[in-house]
Amino acid sequence: MSSRRDDSEPVVPRSVAVIMDGNGRWAKRAGLERIRGHERGIDAVRTTVTECAQLGVEALTLYAFSEENWQRPQREIDLLFKLLLRFLVDERPTLMRNGVRLLHAGRRERLAPAVLRTLDETIALTAGNTGMLLCLAISYGGRQELVDAMQSLARRVAAGELRPEQIDDAAIRAALYQPQVPDPDLLIRTAGERRISNFLLWQISYAEIWVSDVCWPDFGREQLLEAFRDYGRRVRKFGKVL
Ligand code: FPP
Repeated sequence: MSSRRDDSEPVVPRSVAVIMDGNGRWAKRAGLERIRGHERGIDAVRTTVTECAQLGVEALTLYAFSEENWQRPQREIDLLFKLLLRFLVDERPTLMRNGVRLLHAGRRERLAPAVLRTLDETIALTAGNTGMLLCLAISYGGRQELVDAMQSLARRVAAGELRPEQIDDAAIRAALYQPQVPDPDLLIRTAGERRISNFLLWQISYAEIWVSDVCWPDFGREQLLEAFRDYGRRVRKFGKVL
């Protein structure tokens, strides 16, 4: 029996992660300022969150702001966080209606007090929701996450709470920012680049990768279903012989 599926049958992955790229290129092509691309990117975030929640995705992780993004011009950083703040407030009714629970992955140190407050309020508001986990990677880096995890494990060893030989896969996983988010089954990247860009380095070990040529502001239901259809055609061996 063939394990290939019919083209028309999207398969919904349990856990999805997205590198939302191409806002700037989208704006440039439209003859607009970069920030207009980010504004339109928010509409794509809204669509993707709602579609994934309604299709039955268990966890969606979005790369909203990387550690490296702090090197962008201050004006662009300020505008991005303004959009993020607005999203975290405006989307509350939609998140509640769809039973979505918000989580944050990343370092808190560089986030402004207003961002932390609003983020924490939305996390608290949605904490009782039992539907999809929406994990926003903000001020996030995959290497930084591993550094933070190693430091917390080392502190526990130094305090005598953990023996070095107890540091196994499960212990490292438990020390990551959001261990309850299942490893992504599907990693989507928009705007055509074939790079991981320091995203979820531990968690994507066995993720299937789908690169879409459309820029993030143009990513909608149709593109999501195209990714899920391709995911349905993948044969996942996890290193074994089938
Ligand atoms: C990449 O486009 C996108 C980002 C760096 C930020 C993504 C952020 C959003 C979509 C808005 C905020 C997010 C949430 C979850 C509310 P780019 O600027 O690198 O595009 P380019 O490579 O074409 O220049």
